[in-house]
Amino acid sequence: MFNIHQTKAGAHARRIRMPKVNISPDKKLLHPAEWAPRIFADSAAYSDIEPLFRAGIITGITTNPTLMKKAGAKSWAEAEKISRDLLKLVSPFPVSLELTELTREKMIEQARLLDSWGDNVVVKVPVGGYPDVDPSFDPYTGLKVIHALWEMDIRTNATLIFNSTQAFWAANAGATYVSPFLGRMADYAYKNDHPERPPGNCLYWIEDHKNTKADQMVFNTEYVASGGPRKDIGVRLIQEISVVFTNYDIHCQILAASLRNFAQVSECLLAGADVLTVPTQVLEQVPFHPLTQAGMKTFFEDSKVFDK
Ligand code: E4P
Repeated sequence: MFNIHQTKAGAHARRIRMPKVNISPDKKLLHPAEWAPRIFADSAAYSDIEPLFRAGIITGITTNPTLMKKAGAKSWAEAEKISRDLLKLVSPFPVSLELTELTREKMIEQARLLDSWGDNVVVKVPVGGYPDVDPSFDPYTGLKVIHALWEMDIRTNATLIFNSTQAFWAANAGATYVSPFLGRMADYAYKNDHPERPPGNCLYWIEDHKNTKADQMVFNTEYVASGGPRKDIGVRLIQEISVVFTNYDIHCQILAASLRNFAQVSECLLAGADVLTVPTQVLEQVPFHPLTQAGMKTFFEDSKVFDK
């Protein structure tokens, strides 16, 4: 489990060198959460996002091709319309739009186009996986594109991050955000863990190296190095990145992604994520808790006495 005592003063020092999230200009009552983490909606569905934005629950959006498709986009033109509407809705807050091209030149060209849609565009760049789409593709495409876009002053969100070294190299290439997918990591372990071994064993069980498939081996070293069995392997990833970024005063923002429930939201807050992108169906649960609801009913009933 996450150990709250591992929170370091260094993480706070890194955080307060980033821009303030809640500003209180000319106010006697200073905002109590000036360096709060930002919460984004992980969605492309305008009607789901709008009420959350108007309620001040979210200050940004992340999308990807799957979310665009879910929101109804059946062509590039429709994806553009959805993107522009979202950019306008939350302006000046950021909206991550993912590249769909797969070669360096075309990705840079597409990034320029996306960037022209608004001042609040963040270009989402997959950090790897290119040869899995086409074996002739350059595996370093993502990192090269992130670096080229940094040189062009275009903000990027390095996506599909699954270990702290990928996060480090993306930041080193110039990414504004890194998106570790902690829910997918937890799902993977849930499916692939050996039931009689400690939680998360498929990601670090070193003795199994000779017997595991290559795609299960590549993640192992960090988990061996950083503490063995843990139930919360996804959140462990956030903590690791936070420690690495703190050690080297890296200001790239840790954007916890692929969240599934409120337990993971709480754990990410404890682990030191800079931004959490949360599905709208999870965010919609913010005002609800059985005890909040029961308490409110009692207060309402008891307040009737003042009507007399
Ligand atoms: C992040 O920016 C991604 O859009 C997202 O969090 C992926 O989550 P999923 O695992 O629910 O698809």
